[in-house]
Amino acid sequence: MPSTLLSLGSINADFQVRVAQPPGSQETLLASDFCRLSGGKAANRAYLATLFGHHSVLLGRVGADELADQALGNLRQAGVLLDGVTHAPGHSTAVSMITVPASGKKQIILANNANDAWDGMACDRVRAAIAAAPPQAVLALDHEIPAAVVRMAIEAAQQRSLPVVLDPSFPERLEPGLWPLISAVTPNTEEAAHLLGQPVTDSPSAARAAAAFRQRGVPMACVKLADGGCLLACAEGVYHVPAGGIAARDATGAGDAFTGVFAIALLEGQPASEAALWATAAAHLAVAGYGSQPAYAGREQVLAMAEQLRPQLRRVDD
Ligand code: RIB
Repeated sequence: MPSTLLSLGSINADFQVRVAQPPGSQETLLASDFCRLSGGKAANRAYLATLFGHHSVLLGRVGADELADQALGNLRQAGVLLDGVTHAPGHSTAVSMITVPASGKKQIILANNANDAWDGMACDRVRAAIAAAPPQAVLALDHEIPAAVVRMAIEAAQQRSLPVVLDPSFPERLEPGLWPLISAVTPNTEEAAHLLGQPVTDSPSAARAAAAFRQRGVPMACVKLADGGCLLACAEGVYHVPAGGIAARDATGAGDAFTGVFAIALLEGQPASEAALWATAAAHLAVAGYGSQPAYAGREQVLAMAEQLRPQLRRVDD
């Protein structure tokens, strides 16, 4: 039975290449495998929701330019509902310039453009979409849009008692007073360290960080580890979800696969530990391909990968 995922946040036109070594070593680097893709955190999550067979509502901003067609084309084709995407007059659609070296550890330069250009009409459209969502809907959002829009959307979701899943990128934008209104947060180790003001470098420190988010009022906190695993703190305890050992071709969009599938699992009524398992599986599969949306796997593959990871899922607070 399909449910509704609302995805609010960045919508980008991605320009991606492969490079032999990371940028910085030379003034001009020769690149290969150039592609233009639909991207951005909210766009990537919205695309995943359609792969899982849900109604997917995208909320965000694009420019009135041809880059908007690049950013939205794949989503339109996939059936993502785009009525909540508004045009920012005088602004370009956001652009991500992405280089992927042999290690798969991508580097991104983001021109945030329309993602940061909100007006009253665009905010009203978001409020209306949240007000009209079915009672079982989930709101997944990121912080690559202004803090005031994030706050408005979280408060609107709270009034409807809709669960809120937050990808806290950019972490410096987060308003600390919002923690008790958020159901789940999915930072990587650097974001967790920034948000908490404490070092987060390995599994034990990630477990402490996840528990610290719970102390701030967030019921489910998943700290994503650099190896692809994660630490989850939830009402049932603290869990380590292992990395799957897939060779990384391209890490672009793996974090969005994690947050998107975590939100989808909650939408489907799964407990937090199952959501973290599915999310980790989706992120593993995402790094095996090239680009974000073209690399995403659907339900069957994600659940099969989750079964492979399940035997190593561990409580670490016993
Ligand atoms: O998180 C990955 C996404 O954000 C990419 O699609 C790219 O747009 C980046 O900025």
